[in-house]
Amino acid sequence: MDHETENLSPDAAGLARAAALLAAGELVSFPTETVYGLGGDARNARAVAGIYTAKGRPKFNPLIVHVHSLDAAERYAVFDDTARALAAQFWPGPLTMVLPLRADGGICDLVTAGLATVAIRLPAHPVARALLAAFDGPLAAPSANPSGKISPTSAQHVIQGLSGRIAGIVDGGICAVGVESTILALDPPAILRPGGLATEALEHAIGQPLPRGGDAQAPNAPGQLKSHYAPGTAVRLNATAPDRREIWIGFGPQCTTAAMNLSPTGDLTEAAANLFAFLRRADQQAHDTGATCIAIAQIPDYGLGQAINDRLERAAAPRPLDPSLGR
Ligand code: TXA
Ligand code: MG
Repeated sequence: MDHETENLSPDAAGLARAAALLAAGELVSFPTETVYGLGGDARNARAVAGIYTAKGRPKFNPLIVHVHSLDAAERYAVFDDTARALAAQFWPGPLTMVLPLRADGGICDLVTAGLATVAIRLPAHPVARALLAAFDGPLAAPSANPSGKISPTSAQHVIQGLSGRIAGIVDGGICAVGVESTILALDPPAILRPGGLATEALEHAIGQPLPRGGDAQAPNAPGQLKSHYAPGTAVRLNATAPDRREIWIGFGPQCTTAAMNLSPTGDLTEAAANLFAFLRRADQQAHDTGATCIAIAQIPDYGLGQAINDRLERAAAPRPLDPSLGR
């Protein structure tokens, strides 16, 4: 173990300690409304390299920069009228915009993987906002899980995956949204990753349909690798009922026999919030009972259902044999 990971409370003293660790180039996990992030100073190449090391993440993946205000965002990225209008409407919140990088902003190359663009987001979680204000700088923060594993929606999940590998964890409870932010490219407009902000809301704001961008074979970013978010157990999608020896995750009122139901009323927002915690629980149950597969009910493909289905397709994808690919 490199570190005794400090468990920090989300009060003034805990946040001051977290900010001091970050300023010293250490890594601190913090809650956002989507998932827990693994934060490091985006201007400090050693800190950012440490993020990749702690996660075991392949190096070609650019990271999202988190800021506490639109003014701060404009120091690192070039905003046009569309980007400003979207920021005014959806920030703070689960939207990440990919914008031209300001070369003089001080964001290090490891964050952008050398691209001329930067992914930037202003999170809504009060603890994330308080930490960004206390740190007073840009935080690079991927989800705080070992690469290829399920994203964390509680401090306990972060401890399970990264304890001993990072300096601190700020415990801010359970993440309300439960899936990562929606990533939007603007030139040309495209959804690079469906997420916690529904595509339909962005299409309505921009006034045009948004194509799905990105290529799983040639990812310009990690969340696009097919086998990302994989539990240890195999996953079967669009199941109408579980087979013997399958763990069953249901959705909606028709799944009355499911011990785990993502939303008994069929509410996609509730289902997104439960998704990663239920996948972990099902994985653990499979491990404990010798079940060979997790069967998951069909999820409608609109609103947050798009983000849920994106994550489930990755969870069900064949796993790469080469551990350097997507883990
Ligand atoms: O909700 C979230 O977005 C969470 C929380 C912690 O904020 N963060 C997160 O970060 O999911 P991460 O590092 O796991 O996702 C980074 C994604 C990559 O998969 C990639 O698709 C995209 O951001 N990305 C980053 N920089 C990019 C760029 N310059 N161009 C295109 N995509 C980029
Ligand atoms: Mg991630």
